[in-house]
Amino acid sequence: MITSVLAPPFAIAFRLQVRRALLIKTSFPENAMNRLRVYLSFSLIGPLLCGVAQAQAPTASNDTDRANALLKQMTTEEKIGQLNQPLYLKLPIPSVKTDPVSYEDRVRRGEVGSFLFLTDPKEINRLQKIAMTEQRLHIPILFGFDVIHGFDTEFPVPLAMAASWDPAMAEQAQGIAAEEAGHAGVRWSFAPMLDIARDPRWGRISEGAGEDPYLGAAMARAQVRGFQGRPENPRPFMATLKHFAGYGAAEGGRDYDAAYISEERMQNVYLPPFRAGVEAGAGTVMSAYMDLNNVPASGNLHLLQEILRKQLNFKGFVVSDAFAVGSLVTQGFAENAKDAALRGATAGVNMDMGSATYLEQMKALLDEGHLTESQLDDLVRPILAAKYRLRLFDHPYADATEQTHSEMLAKHRPTARTAAARSAVLLRNEGALLPLAKTTKRIAVIGPLGNSKGDMNGPWSLTAKAEDTVSVFEGIRAKLPDSHVEYAEGVQIAKTFPSSFDDFIGPKLEKPWSPEEADRRMKSALKLAGNSDAVIMTLGELSGMDFEYASRSSLSLPGKQQELLEKIQSLGKPVVLLLFTTRPLDLSWASEHIPAIMDCYFGGTEAGNAVADLLVGDAVPGGKLPVTWPRSVGQVEIYYAHTNSHKPYDSADFTSRYWDISTSPLYPFGYGLSYSTFSISDLHLSAKTAPLDGSITATVTVANTGARAADEVVQLYLHQRFGSASRPVRELKGFRRVTLLPGQKQEISFPIGREERNYWSAAKDGWVIEPSDFDVWVGNNSQAELHDTFSLLQ
Ligand code: NOJ
Repeated sequence: MITSVLAPPFAIAFRLQVRRALLIKTSFPENAMNRLRVYLSFSLIGPLLCGVAQAQAPTASNDTDRANALLKQMTTEEKIGQLNQPLYLKLPIPSVKTDPVSYEDRVRRGEVGSFLFLTDPKEINRLQKIAMTEQRLHIPILFGFDVIHGFDTEFPVPLAMAASWDPAMAEQAQGIAAEEAGHAGVRWSFAPMLDIARDPRWGRISEGAGEDPYLGAAMARAQVRGFQGRPENPRPFMATLKHFAGYGAAEGGRDYDAAYISEERMQNVYLPPFRAGVEAGAGTVMSAYMDLNNVPASGNLHLLQEILRKQLNFKGFVVSDAFAVGSLVTQGFAENAKDAALRGATAGVNMDMGSATYLEQMKALLDEGHLTESQLDDLVRPILAAKYRLRLFDHPYADATEQTHSEMLAKHRPTARTAAARSAVLLRNEGALLPLAKTTKRIAVIGPLGNSKGDMNGPWSLTAKAEDTVSVFEGIRAKLPDSHVEYAEGVQIAKTFPSSFDDFIGPKLEKPWSPEEADRRMKSALKLAGNSDAVIMTLGELSGMDFEYASRSSLSLPGKQQELLEKIQSLGKPVVLLLFTTRPLDLSWASEHIPAIMDCYFGGTEAGNAVADLLVGDAVPGGKLPVTWPRSVGQVEIYYAHTNSHKPYDSADFTSRYWDISTSPLYPFGYGLSYSTFSISDLHLSAKTAPLDGSITATVTVANTGARAADEVVQLYLHQRFGSASRPVRELKGFRRVTLLPGQKQEISFPIGREERNYWSAAKDGWVIEPSDFDVWVGNNSQAELHDTFSLLQ
């Protein structure tokens, strides 16, 4: 652990920062000024309660011993080199300077601990060979990349995987992603993203598991196990928990903007997925960009030392977000680059992604006595230990051949198809319009996303090839060879302010049509729809709109999609709306006028086939919403686990409400329909009272009462009625996705133990389990009505 042996003037600045960090614990600025910083940030307790598993050490002690032995042989410069992660990419972004030194020379000089963005196995091997043969100590480079939801084969985006409520599926998908990336020589993923997101204006809602800490923790655990393997069967691959912490709470939903998070909310809402990820043994954590309570996360001692190292007992290494160490100056926190390096290092950021601030400044900090050699060793040790654990010293090279990409795809397509089908959420199905009869003769696929491949891959699908991906149109055509399936785009989707990413990531934005062309396209879509027996509308957002640097102020269907939808609906044909988006969009009109609506997110390589399976009932939707679906952007932030005001929503008057819109969501958290029907009944508690540290079991019976084999997600919600703090009206504390045949029943039990009942109480300044009365609900969404109560006694 880094000690604070600091010399002035940094020591003074540093002590001030510590003092500020401590103050933050108790004073939470409520009315912080909104600061819109549209820069590419590319400019850009004590031990927890018993019952919580101890963190697994991500590296075995012999890895650390070997790292220590190596450290003894290293010069100061070589150590500093290990902390440096340059980008292997010439970014077409003016604010990002291009390194004047070649990649090869940097490697030769021992100035590259890791490269970011290099995924070509041949180039990986070429540079690795230089490291292994020409560099003095032959320390392998660790190649890291954003393997977010696939590598050769794209899986559904993480929010969609969360909508599957199927952690085993998420584990399998990330295992496949790690296998594919590993062949290419990439042994480190900057995933899973664990940011709780309760504001759909924030484009990065797509990358996490949504609004709920319990579901988020389950998905965190699963993804870490997927990437790294289980302890009994470890995989030489490393996961990153990001963005530590609170990045999803950006003010106004503006990416990169400041977050103001009380300790209560940090502990109860934002940290549980990170805690779960650390306990699952994640090797690295990425420090976030934004100001957290006015201290940038990548220089935030309270966050990185007190919370991450002490409370969460994290033993791996911390990598900054891209350029975040250098940005400590831009953020008005560090005085200059040298100060930024000192603050990053002292807070415990081991590796500097992209900014080269450590590389350029750290030697001077050591020479001048601001940092000690032993502090430097503390920063380097876990990086070297991770390289040993990943067996990089013995197996430094990529083994991919020309065939690997297609071999991986062939092997993994069936799982990707299943995952995409399991992620879809059926929001509406009036008159059982879905599934469509396979005998439907003329089908019109209409909308800007109907024949897009790149968008189906979703954001952060940088290594996927669009040509490998099945579009919705292709999927339906292949599924129904005897039907007449035609496609018309109808309208275009455009951004008012394109992002710098659009130039080099994801499908290129189309040139806008002329007014005449737009008119012609609209008319031909209407004509096609008019001549069909069923219309499949494929609307939503471009994948680049659900991404980094991609916030929105509105939740409407972008462009003229709403107009197209209303015109098509007026033709009187059966219309199915397939939504491709991760943020919930404004469906207030569609939810009353379009009989069938299914949220398909961005399903990845097999999106089109999965959608076709779902449309005709070869797969049955079983996904549930991982975020509350608002009626309009004005309800944001809306989430189910809110506390009661003195006038709860069902009071007769003076309730906390809007006068122009209902307070209720359009679709609640946890909601999703099926082609079958289910009953959940016979809630039985093992006891009505229990001692404080006792456990109660809730048991229900779920039965498939419909005519098809299908899945239901049974969910348990808990509420503590009184205590040292007000508790949310409901909190998810258990769930299980089950598959049942028609008529089949299953008993499901959920433990309600200490872990389900503890919470961090602001009044007690710590974790508590309190005597109280509790409500239990079990059902298939967060408005479940099957209810019972129990009491915990002192
Ligand atoms: C910035 C993003 O915030 C982070 O999630 C990502 O891993 C890095 N860039 C590297 O691409």
